[in-house]
Amino acid sequence: MSKLLVTGRKKLSGEVSVQGAKNSALPILAAVLLTKGESVIYNCPALSDVEASVNILRYLGCKAERSGQTLVINTDGFNRSDIPDSLMCKTRSSIMFLGAVLARSGKAKLSFPGGCEIGLRPIDMHLDALSKLGAEINERHGCLECSAPYGLRGNKISLPFPSVGATEHIIIAACLSGGTTTLTNAAREPEIVDLADFLNACGAKIYGAGEGVIVIDGVSSLSGCAHSVIPDRIVAATFMSAAAATGSSIVLGDLVPAHLGAVIPLFEDAGCKIKTEKCKLKISAPKRLKPFRTVSTMPYPGFPTDAQAPVMAAACVAGGTSFFIENIFENRFRHTRELARMGAKIMTEGRVCVVEGRDRLYGAKVEATDLRGAAALVVAALCAEGQTTIGSLHYLERGYENLELSLSSLGADIKKI
Ligand code: UD1
Repeated sequence: MSKLLVTGRKKLSGEVSVQGAKNSALPILAAVLLTKGESVIYNCPALSDVEASVNILRYLGCKAERSGQTLVINTDGFNRSDIPDSLMCKTRSSIMFLGAVLARSGKAKLSFPGGCEIGLRPIDMHLDALSKLGAEINERHGCLECSAPYGLRGNKISLPFPSVGATEHIIIAACLSGGTTTLTNAAREPEIVDLADFLNACGAKIYGAGEGVIVIDGVSSLSGCAHSVIPDRIVAATFMSAAAATGSSIVLGDLVPAHLGAVIPLFEDAGCKIKTEKCKLKISAPKRLKPFRTVSTMPYPGFPTDAQAPVMAAACVAGGTSFFIENIFENRFRHTRELARMGAKIMTEGRVCVVEGRDRLYGAKVEATDLRGAAALVVAALCAEGQTTIGSLHYLERGYENLELSLSSLGADIKKI
């Protein structure tokens, strides 16, 4: 099992590129199944979660070949409608293959999805929506057997909460359905716009992605296309947290500053100077950060829950008290226990965390608890005195591509052992 070894308190400087967004790549890879022929996905990050989706595509008979950041997928061999538990359990977003397989073949059999344990993460909204689109769903012994005997049909769907995954799943399932689907209270994340852009380039008719109401006019078939995945705004926020925690000045390249609308002002309030131009962002942190005051996670365009843990790591060394309110997931503070091992002073009560900034953190042996919690430990280790060993690295590798190499290139003392 590999670990990260970090010797902290090194200043970071220089420029890094931000990788393609995992949360765009995953729904796009499920959506590829709707298309005929070949799709070329550029800027597709090489991550274990992406690999898990590619393995599902291969199991279903598709061809997939990676060359650097480019993934070429040919779906002509698509020949089955079941997905075994061993593939489903790797990620949460594997659930989107349900709608894709169903739309393409009229039936699907698969188990419940896996993913990080950051809350209950039910899939009720996904299943309710598929039922509304005409799917017959039977749940037995953790297995979902679905069929659409008369094909999927457009319908009006209103989500009780703007779930990112359910919004994407509905878009995917509705693209090849008969008639029009109108989705209200849709999630508005940039990754949803990216998915719609991909599908529209394949011939779909999706209107309003990025807004609260999305209309999908079903079409009879889709063909593959070439598409470039958007930059990962959470990876960008992680690098910003690393700069803020270490009092450093760095430049991030290949990002979309507009996607960080709720993140940038927070760092500015904490005393960081931020300059953006086109696809670059420069962050210059003060010697000692001011506290973040209140970080309240919300659906986009609010502050992203995925950035909560890395920002909290920076708050651990701010000159004052920061408050974190987690509104999206019930169990997303598991990293606080590990941060406390490094000397962080954090009190947690339900969905609220109070972080009292310390002068410094101290290196320790810590274990990652989930993907973004792992990133928080890396940020904490970069500013801690002495050496930190971070175990359970497989969590980090779900969403960060060679993070240690990017941070080394900025001057961090970090290596995989
Ligand atoms: C996606 C992201 C994840 C991010 C999250 C919120 C991907 C691959 N993952 O996850 O990184 O943290 O959005 O921005 O894009 N819920 C239900 N029933 C459902 C679906 C969701 O109760 O059927 C609840 C969830 O338990 C959670 C909330 O709704 O409390 C939001 O979840 P959702 O937006 O669906 O997150 P994911 O799509 O799983």
